[in-house]
Amino acid sequence: MADDGFAAHEVTGPEADTPSTADRDVLSRAASVGDSPELLPGSVWPAEITIVIPTLNERDNVPVLAERLATALEGVAWEAIFVDDDSGDGTIEVVKELSRRSPRIRGIRRVHRRGLAGASLEGMLASAAPYVALIDADLQHDETRLRDMLDILRSGEADVVVASRYVDSRESEGLSQVRHAGSRAATWFAQRLLKAPLTDPMSGFFAIRREAVDRVAPKLSDQGFKILLDILASAPEPLRVREVPYVFRPRIHGESKLDAAIVLEYLGLIVAKLTGDLVSIRFLMFGLVGASGVFVNLAALWALLNAGVGFTAAQSAAMLTAMTSNYTLNNALTYRDRRRRGWRFVTGLLMFAALCSVGLVGGVGVSTFIYEQAPRWWLAGLAGAAVGTMWNYVTSTAITWRGR
Ligand code: GDD
Ligand code: MN
Repeated sequence: MADDGFAAHEVTGPEADTPSTADRDVLSRAASVGDSPELLPGSVWPAEITIVIPTLNERDNVPVLAERLATALEGVAWEAIFVDDDSGDGTIEVVKELSRRSPRIRGIRRVHRRGLAGASLEGMLASAAPYVALIDADLQHDETRLRDMLDILRSGEADVVVASRYVDSRESEGLSQVRHAGSRAATWFAQRLLKAPLTDPMSGFFAIRREAVDRVAPKLSDQGFKILLDILASAPEPLRVREVPYVFRPRIHGESKLDAAIVLEYLGLIVAKLTGDLVSIRFLMFGLVGASGVFVNLAALWALLNAGVGFTAAQSAAMLTAMTSNYTLNNALTYRDRRRRGWRFVTGLLMFAALCSVGLVGGVGVSTFIYEQAPRWWLAGLAGAAVGTMWNYVTSTAITWRGR
């Protein structure tokens, strides 16, 4: 045991104290994995590859994945870092129970923060190994591919090895029809706009030289699901990419955290990168939501006028509808990481309404002023809209959805 550098650690020692708060059932499941010797064979230290595993409510998947990694990477000096965003189901307790039993497993618990990209990045930055890999906790990614991925990195032929769902087959078992179509569309965009020669640029399963991540880390967004694309787009010199195929498996435990918002976020990332990070993803989403509000306003106005409501009353109701719709969408999409729920949803709506009214008055003021200087209606109108939008965006970010 002494040659693995962990002689001081009690690895397979007596039962550790069980935290009273944690779920017994889950801990005993974790414990049974820790008892099996498979988590330890081969040298542990120094790690050659760090497997980063972001988790959000994945407690049932953690012990299974740890065991599968041990099998897949037998003989490799690997370590795993689970990065958990304070899951309510006790995921981190399961991880820590495993780390008390094996120096291969570590957990980072993040509080007051949400987001796959940010969690993934934090895990990768905690690594000191020459290589890092990112893999989902939910067993949808085929961990047996990791060995090939590592071998390619070792050979020095590539900086990044991406496990792709589309290299061989055109199908992926684990994706719904809609997700599948969305995923294909996003891939098309990535290939067109970023000229990335990737069949699966949205992949959350890849291995990379750690140093390449360290170099671009400050430029990466902590929002969204698109960490691979972000790394590739942010690299100062193009990274050499290789792909290996795998079949995306259906999820068994827990549920997907990815929803329709991902497509918007994804387009946002592309625009952000194309404009050299001038336009932030959040601002873009805010703008898209604002644009949707114009349609809601017009649709509601049309409906109310047709129903015989007078113009002033109809427009007032339509504006209220549009504002509520904007607020709800911003809450669900633009500021999903700071989402307001319950009573905070209601107070947030009032805040948003009050602040946007100020933005409205300010915008009208600015456009009137400009129109008086130079009577060009479109210039005045644009300036007013820009000022109003900026005001709404800044106050929404700094006040209504202020990070807590
Ligand atoms: N720490 C943390 N914080 N982990 C998260 C968060 C978060 O906010 N959101 C999701 N995760 C974890 C999940 O627990 C899981 O281990 C992994 O990230 C992927 O999340 P899923 O919710 O299972 O995503 P998916 O299967 O729908 O999406 C798959 O396809 C995407 C591309 O279409 C994944 O492979 C993604 O990585 C991929 O980008
Ligand atoms: Mn998944």
